[in-house]
Amino acid sequence: KQRVFSGIQPTNHLQLGNYLGALKRFAGMQNSGIETLYCIVDLHAITVWQDPADLTRATRELAAGYLASGLDPKKSILFNQSQVPAHTQMAWVFNCVARMGWLNRMTQFKDKAGKNRENASVGLFTYPNLMAADILVYKATHVPVGEDQKQHVELTRDIAMKFNNDFGTEFFPITEPVIEGVATRVMSLRDGTKKMSKSDPSDMSRINLTDDADTIAKKIRKAKTDPEPLPETLDGLQDRPEAKNLVNIYAALADSDPATIIAEFGGQPFSDFKPKLAELAVNSLSPITNEMNRLMEDPAEIDRILADGARRAQEIAAPIVDEAYKIIGMVR
Ligand code: TYM
Repeated sequence: KQRVFSGIQPTNHLQLGNYLGALKRFAGMQNSGIETLYCIVDLHAITVWQDPADLTRATRELAAGYLASGLDPKKSILFNQSQVPAHTQMAWVFNCVARMGWLNRMTQFKDKAGKNRENASVGLFTYPNLMAADILVYKATHVPVGEDQKQHVELTRDIAMKFNNDFGTEFFPITEPVIEGVATRVMSLRDGTKKMSKSDPSDMSRINLTDDADTIAKKIRKAKTDPEPLPETLDGLQDRPEAKNLVNIYAALADSDPATIIAEFGGQPFSDFKPKLAELAVNSLSPITNEMNRLMEDPAEIDRILADGARRAQEIAAPIVDEAYKIIGMVR
């Protein structure tokens, strides 16, 4: 049986990379007839310090972001991780399955811990085990994510294989990452070699889903570019990371592809292309921003949707945890 699971951390504001690499694609998947679960991973968020009031706000804002991007809480299960105890119950098991060496290779840990590894939380180190639990506690077969999460989904596969192997079973599926489209790695507007991120210290490096039209236009106008006009062919985008990024963003927002965008805009200077990109971005994003703002006026309704989703998620996950514990030999 096919089942889709994905998650987003409730930290800072949603940015364009989250939207194009994840949210926009999630809404599309719920209509395919496959069961879809989408999670707000609040337990992952606290692997680095979060102010409690900010965590609450970011959780509701992310829920609003999911809904405003087209997620239907009747078709999909939308919930926050901490309300479904099965995730942590499975994560403990995976802490005992995964090897230190596997986690030592995780690039996200290296990036986030920085030079001061001794001072990183233990949770930041075991983060991928909880992520594997998120996925496998539903026996999810497909995980739509951006490029940066590929390594974590591969670790999830390694954990599933080792569990199956250790206990002589085929209990867990070997999950497929679904990394598709032109926006699997949206880059920073200030540096075409760095990915766009919620946690980049420069707000000018990203477009937030909470930005108003003027802010979006300003950020695109000021986006770093080289002095050449757009190339006439796709090949011409090689070694021009900033130009390539803006073309990819345009293509993703327009549900098109880079070749079509280059055919249309090739040869134009950025002073012509940027205003068109800004207009497209504003037209695509402002309905979402407005809908998020509307939804956030009623936090009680958001909380109700999350609690309902959590109840349905736990219903699927609880028997899977139970079954896994039995396989391990825990008395039931
Ligand atoms: P997070 O919260 O960093 O990002 C959420 C989703 O957005 C994608 N993304 C991007 N895609 C394209 N370009 C970008 N610049 C960009 N930045 C972020 C991410 O790839 C992701 O799909 N560990 C995960 C959350 C998680 C999870 C899971 C995901 C926890 N458990 C289980 C899938 C399945 C994370 O930190 O995503």
